[in-house]
Amino acid sequence: MSFVTAILRPPVLGLAAVLLGGALAGPAPLRAESMPIAERLQQCASCHGEDGNSKLENIPSLAGQPAFFVLNQLFLMREGVRKVEAMAAIVKDLTDPDLEALSQHFSKLPARPSDEKTDASIVKHGAEVAAARRCNSCHGPTLGGVDQIPRVAKQRVDYLTVTLKSYRDNPRPGADTLMSSAVAGLADADLVALAQYAAAH
Ligand code: HEC
Ligand code: HEC
Repeated sequence: MSFVTAILRPPVLGLAAVLLGGALAGPAPLRAESMPIAERLQQCASCHGEDGNSKLENIPSLAGQPAFFVLNQLFLMREGVRKVEAMAAIVKDLTDPDLEALSQHFSKLPARPSDEKTDASIVKHGAEVAAARRCNSCHGPTLGGVDQIPRVAKQRVDYLTVTLKSYRDNPRPGADTLMSSAVAGLADADLVALAQYAAAH
C-alpha cells in the first residue's frame, strides 16, 4: 500500500463502513422483492455483458471489480445517492444479501478489454499524465483497484472518458471528491488519453 493510499483510505472506508454497517446489520428491507440470484444476473447481463464484460457503449464492465466497490456502488444506487436511470427499477428491489452475492459474483469474473480502438501515441500520453497525477497510488500498480477503489484497467474507453469528464466537470452525487482533485485542470485530450491508457493496461 502506498503512502497516499495508506493515509487517504481509512476515512473513505470509514464513511462507507458507517453507511453499509447501518444497512447490512439489520434485517433485509421489507420493500425488497426477492428474486433468485440467477435471474438477477440475467438482468445485469443484458446490459453489463454475459461474462460481466460490457459490449455496450457507455456501460461499464463489472468483471474483476473489487467486491467492495460493487457493493458500495449498488448500495449508493439503492439509497438514491448515485442515480443511474437505467438501473433505478432494479436496484430498489435489491436486498442486502443480493448486494453481497452480486458483488462477490462479479469480482470473481476475469476482466477482458473491449474491442474499442486505442492509439499507441495517445496511450503513451495517457501514461505520462497518469504518472504525473499518480493514478496508481490509489488504483494500484496495475490499475486493478482495491476495496472501494475501482479497477480501471481493461474498462471500456467510452465509459472511462465520460466518467473522467464528469469527475472533472460535474461529479455525480456520492462520488469520491479525491477523484475530482486527481483530474482537476486536465484538458479533454488528457482525459481521453488517460481512458485509453487505462483500457489498454
Ligand atoms: C438497462 C441497463 C442496465 C441494467 C439492466 C443494469 N445496469 Fe448497471 N449500469 C448501467 C449503466 C448505464 C451504468 C453506468 C451509469 C453511469 O454512467 O454512472 C451502470 C453502472 C453500474 C455499476 C457501477 C459501475 C462503475 O464502474 O461505476 C454497477 C456496480 C452496476 N451497474 C451493477 C449492476 C448490476 C449488479 C445489475 C443487475 C442487478 C445491473 N447493473 C443492471 C446499466 C444497467
Ligand atoms: C486519492 C486516490 C485516487 C487517485 C489519486 C485517483 N483515483 Fe480514481 N478513484 C478513486 C476512488 C476512491 C474512486 C471511486 C470514486 C467513487 O466512489 O465515485 C475512483 C474512481 C475512478 C474512476 C471511475 C471508475 C468507475 O468504474 O466508475 C475512474 C475512471 C478513475 N478513478 C480514474 C482515475 C485516474 C485516471 C486517475 C489519475 C488521473 C485516478 N483515478 C486517480 C481514487 C483515486
